[in-house]
Amino acid sequence: LARLKVDLKNGLRQYPDFPTPGILFEDIMPLFSSHTLFTGLVRALELQVADVFHTQLGVHSDVDVVVGLESRGFLFGPTLALRLGAGFVPVRKQGKLPGNVETETFKKEYGEDVFQMQIDAIKPGAKVVIVDDIIATGGSAAAAGNLVKKLGGNLLGYIFIMELDFLKGRDKLDAPVHTLLSGQEEGLKS
Ligand code: PRP
Ligand code: MG
Repeated sequence: LARLKVDLKNGLRQYPDFPTPGILFEDIMPLFSSHTLFTGLVRALELQVADVFHTQLGVHSDVDVVVGLESRGFLFGPTLALRLGAGFVPVRKQGKLPGNVETETFKKEYGEDVFQMQIDAIKPGAKVVIVDDIIATGGSAAAAGNLVKKLGGNLLGYIFIMELDFLKGRDKLDAPVHTLLSGQEEGLKS
């Protein structure tokens, strides 16, 4: 896992002043354009789940559902779900999901955003892991966690590819948080 993490970290690209001056953008897309890196990423996430949820937390049965956040959580959430023998459920931005939905509003860098899930997407008591590419302020992840709990899911924890540690987003989350990589010490997310 340690070796995999080094390869993944080296695969990231940083773009200063994108999308606005003063922001250092961490681009995860090279992890998907290379078959080797994509395979390594999914393997690392799978090992992380096995390590933290099965070994450390003593959860012996499998994860039932991987929940991925729109939109970058959709890039690898379904692939990880297949590898774990789990289903995949999306958290989407407002107005995209039909039927009965639960809604959570949360703060972004500028203004507010709204996440939704379909209320029957998760069975009560289902073991859920939430995944996304990056945790910055933690607002998106906290809202997703609230939705999973409103639906009656058993939230085992969160897995991110990267954490911008200095923003202390994990302090907003009340389930275990695990990240493969640490972000730069300067600059904010997009
Ligand atoms: C980015 C990133 C995370 C979120 C992290 O998504 O992919 O989902 O921000 O920020 P937070 O911890 O401060 O909430 P973004 O909303 O930019 O949209 P995208 O995934 O659709 O690109
Ligand atoms: Mg996102």
